[in-house]
This record gives sequence, C-alpha cells and structure tokens, in this order.
Amino acid sequence: MLRELLRLRELLRYRLVPAVLGAVVLVAFTAAAEPGFQPFSRELPVPVLLEGRRAASGIVAYELNAQEGRSNFFDDVATETLGYNGAYLGPTLRVCRGDRVEITVNNGLDETTTVHWHGLHVPAEMDGGPHQQIPPGTTWKPSFVVDQPAATLWYHPHPLGKTGEQVYRGLAGMMIIGDEVSDTLPLPSTYGVDDIPLVLQDRRFYRDGSFAYVRGMPDIMHGVIGNWILANGRIQPYHEVPRANVRLRLLNGSNSSIYRISLEDGVPFTQIASDGGFLEDSVRLSSLVLSPGERAEVVVDFSRYEQGTRTALRVEQWDGRAFDAVEFRVTGRDEQESRVPQRLVSSPRIPESQASVTRRFSMETMGPGGRLASNGRKMDMDRVDETVVLGATEIWEVSNRSMGMMRIPHSFHIHGVQVRILTRNGREPPPSERGWKDTFLLLPGEVVRFIASFGDYTGIYMYHCHLLEHEDDGMMGQFRVTPTR
Ligand code: C2O
Ligand code: CU
Ligand code: CU
Repeated sequence: MLRELLRLRELLRYRLVPAVLGAVVLVAFTAAAEPGFQPFSRELPVPVLLEGRRAASGIVAYELNAQEGRSNFFDDVATETLGYNGAYLGPTLRVCRGDRVEITVNNGLDETTTVHWHGLHVPAEMDGGPHQQIPPGTTWKPSFVVDQPAATLWYHPHPLGKTGEQVYRGLAGMMIIGDEVSDTLPLPSTYGVDDIPLVLQDRRFYRDGSFAYVRGMPDIMHGVIGNWILANGRIQPYHEVPRANVRLRLLNGSNSSIYRISLEDGVPFTQIASDGGFLEDSVRLSSLVLSPGERAEVVVDFSRYEQGTRTALRVEQWDGRAFDAVEFRVTGRDEQESRVPQRLVSSPRIPESQASVTRRFSMETMGPGGRLASNGRKMDMDRVDETVVLGATEIWEVSNRSMGMMRIPHSFHIHGVQVRILTRNGREPPPSERGWKDTFLLLPGEVVRFIASFGDYTGIYMYHCHLLEHEDDGMMGQFRVTPTR
C-alpha cells in the first residue's frame, strides 16, 4: 500500500509539466462553478432496480431508453444531460444466473450510440461494442443467457471515438448478477437499504452549469479530470444507513480519474468482491484503489458507530485532491452484529500450465503530440489485432511503457471474459486482485500478467484502455475468437 502511494506521489511530479499546459484551460473550469451549493444537503439517489418481466417462455425482458434530459447538480443552474429511462445515469438491472435475458434498447438520442455490458460473458454480437451500432430512433434487442457468477457489472455506451463524451453526459448504469451463492451468503442484500450501488464520477462544469467536456491535448493525455465528485449523479449527497453491516457496490464510473477510496475516519472495511464476483477470501482494508471501469463490493460495519454519527466516503484522485463523496448518517436501532465470512466462495485459480499462448501488449505514449497506441497501433475497426482459438486458455502480459514526461497511468480492460491476474510486476497480486477481474490499473512501468479462458462464443471483442479519453483516441484493439485457426 505504502509503495503504491509513493508511486502515485512520484507520478504527480511528472504530471506537473503537462499540467501547466492545461492550466489555462483548467483554471477557467475550476473557477467556473460556484453556483449555490451546500454539500450534504441532498439525499443520495438510489437508481431504480429493474428486475425484468418474465414471459411465459421464461425470457426475462428489460427496457432501456437512451434519452436527453436536464439535471440539477446545482441549485440555480440546470445541466443538459443524457440518461437511460431518466435524465442522468440509468436503472440498476438485476439479472439471475441461468436466465435468458432480452433487453430492448431504444435510442432516443440524435446520435448513434451502443450499449455495452461491461464484464458480461456474452456472444460478440450481444456485447454492445463499437460494432453493434444503434442509429438514432432505432432499437437494438440483444438476448443472451446469463452464465457467470454473481457480480456487480455495469453498462455504458461504446461508439467508436464517442464513448467518453456519451458517458460524461450521463449514460451509464449498474448491472447486478445474482446466483445461488449470492442468495445464500450471509451478506447485506436489501437493495437501497443495506446494499447500495455507488456510481462514483467526477465532472467539471462551465459557469452556466453545462458540462465542460472538451478534449484538448492535455485532456487526451491525462483524461478529463473533474473538480466535482458525483455519487449516483448527485454532488456530495448524504445517505442514511442502519447501524449494521452495509454493503457498498462501488463503481469508478469516471472517464479517467483513478480513486483511492476510504472512510474519512480511516475505519477499515471488508472487501468481498472484485469486478467479476466474490473474492475467495474477504479482505480487511482501510483503503482501496479503483481505476476507471473497476468495481469492488465492500461491507462497512456501521454498528460500531453511535446513532447520529456522520462519516463520509472519501475519494482521493491520484493527483492528491480529496473529496467527501457521500456523507453517511448512522440512524436506527441497534442491529444485531453480523460477521462477514472469511471464506466466501471457492474460486480455484486457472493453472498457468493450461495456457497455450502468451501474448504481449504495451500501452505506450508516443511522440510529443502524446499519441496513444497499443502495440504501436491505433484502433482500426477494419483490423483484427489478435486471433484466439475458441476454448483456448491464454496468458496476456500487459505493460505500461509510457516514459519520461509522458508517464501516465492506464486502465486495461478486456471484453467478453473474466480473467485472473497471475502477477503484478512479477509478484503475486494483492489480495484485492486475486479474484475475477476485467479491468485493472497499470501505473507507468508496471507489468500485469493475467490468464483467461476463451470459451463458448466466437466473434470480435475489444480490449482497451478504460481511461475513456485514451480509448477514444485509439488506445484500443480487437481480438477475434475463431472456431479454428
Ligand atoms: Cu467498459 Cu470496452 O468498456
Ligand atoms: Cu467492457
Ligand atoms: Cu490509458
């Protein structure tokens, strides 16, 4: 942990030089929003839970409408936003392992979008990547069987070159997979009461309340970093919690900000799940780092607080700026103390000996213009970068080769599969990263090796940096899973 912090500090130094370039632009934004705003004066919105409608055929149907709206992040100005079934963000889709699901996605925007199920193991045509375009005014109806363990996933647009902007304007939502294990483990699971989704995002605004989403050179290099923190689409809300164990499903839904997340008072919490589901063993932590796209489920023991206590979830951006994202107000009677089990699931690792191939990827920053590329190439829809044989188990080794003054972090994400990290910088990954993952942080100079099995589905999937400004600038590639070589 300390080493990691030191590395973050070191990064900051490198960041200063390019930051000066962006300073003129940034100052305007930083000064921009002083609208009437009182922290912790408004309640945390909890996204609507959609459990779907089960037809006689057994198919469970959901509907998402991508639409325009207006949101009041501040008291005196409104912001034009996008959302699913509402003005900003979208409902939480709850699906069950084993079910066949059908999702009707209507595009009510005036531009093309896609909806990608981040973390879901589905056929390539159902994945919602840049190939599954939904033109304005049309409908896309993916259907698939949910076939993976209980987890907290999310969904967001993925149109080529426009992902960052559409997510920034508000398009994103959570997806919760339930299964027998999640139904039987003694963990808090009452949605919105002791099981709370938290979409953490940062934003910057112009004085008139509109989002300041621009992509100048520094914004492409470092990503668009905000000076306001939103939780479920509200700036610094409060939330009343029972004096009991409360589960937080944390999603870093920011475009490019990396967060260290803790409780303001330093009280430790217990991590129970990573991107792709439960950890084998729960982990006690006093803070947790999430890069864009990553999720973690944690349990906070609020029974140790006196009634009426207030404590906040603190979010520290990697340049050191800290925000209290949500204030928790402990209310209600004494609940019975409940323990989070040490052993959660049995989750055997994939033995390295099963891998037939090792592929190497580098995420690099090239040239003075700060061009980003994977393996020296930028994303091209007409080029398949890697071919994987259906059923193969492979090791992918990903390194962050950004150098000198262009040392910037990346967040590597792969579609279609959940993976296991074998090593981080040659060593066993920290306990938080020993479960299923689909997204991970790569600080400059770091190397992560992971193993994955590419079963069930063929077709074209993406891998990319989940700093969305990097992705949109071309730091993305495609792999095709084929039945034969
Ligand atoms: Cu969350 Cu390819 O994205
Ligand atoms: Cu994804
Ligand atoms: Cu990146």
